[in-house]
Amino acid sequence: MIEAVSVPHIVPLDDILPDEPLLMMGAGPVPIPQRVAAANSIVINHLGDTMSKVIEQVKDMGRYVFQTRSSHVMGVGGPGSAAMEMAIANLVHPGDKVLCICNGYFSKRMADMVARVRGEATVIEVPGLESASVELVERELRKTRYDAITLVQGETSNTVCNHSLDRIARAARELGCLVIVDAVCTLSTMPLEMDNWQIDAVITGGQKGLSSIPGVSLLAFSERAWAKKIAVRTDLPFHWCLDAQLADKFWNQKSYHYTAPVSGILALHEALRLVCAETPCPSASIATSTAPKRCRPVSRPWAWNCWWPSSTGSTR
Ligand SMILES: Cc1ncc(COP(=O)(O)O)c(C=O)c1O
Repeated sequence: MIEAVSVPHIVPLDDILPDEPLLMMGAGPVPIPQRVAAANSIVINHLGDTMSKVIEQVKDMGRYVFQTRSSHVMGVGGPGSAAMEMAIANLVHPGDKVLCICNGYFSKRMADMVARVRGEATVIEVPGLESASVELVERELRKTRYDAITLVQGETSNTVCNHSLDRIARAARELGCLVIVDAVCTLSTMPLEMDNWQIDAVITGGQKGLSSIPGVSLLAFSERAWAKKIAVRTDLPFHWCLDAQLADKFWNQKSYHYTAPVSGILALHEALRLVCAETPCPSASIATSTAPKRCRPVSRPWAWNCWWPSSTGSTR
């Protein structure tokens, strides 16, 4: 008979955690506001009227931070990489050709994910610590017919910012590509206008610019991407948990997909509410490119708060 596993000797958390509040100075996780921490301590039913109200508000606030009017804003129980994988698993079908612009570690991860869903990834490594130029991307896009491109807004691994993201996205769109953008590190610390820039999927994590907890992430699909790649899909995506049609049951149809991480969603709600409160803007002007910069959800005083001038030649 195999001996039973005995109770391990465990040191209580109080003896592990330092006394002082943790001041984390990295890109994320970042310290969370008290309201976010309090929300994260609550568990409610994952379905029902209360949760539905919370979800509707999370989506509305998500539309604000992504600057989109799309009805396909949703969360995912998992890290930023899960949101990344959800975007790719639903928008890249086997055999699709995808141009992956790589500036470093995280943008390379999207190429790995494309290969795993049996897409054909062509990687462009942007040399040095340069940001990707529109000319470079356009040149490559004109050589072959691609179905999608992936790129990062801010590459945390080396601080490179693709500050021509808006122009690259529009150019790729014009050439018929879906545009998938990793804004895990940059959302709500830098301007991003999903609809105006014609982006088809934006991915973010909770633990960086939004100042929420890690483990519940947010993404948005454009109406166009949803209609073209998700609504009409006949073969099943490889990942059940990340299937956007199934996730839509929870995020848009008040029904069950998997048991949602309720506490993390409540925390995300509070974090988004604070972003909205800090950057109030008349709703009519939010989505226009002429809106004054101070009205956009760009700068979080307690989060990773870097600013790259977008109109200069600066790459970092
Ligand atoms: C730009 C970028 N993309 C993706 C990720 C992956 O996020 P996660 O670690 O939450 O999976 C990170 C994490 O640091 C990141 O900085």
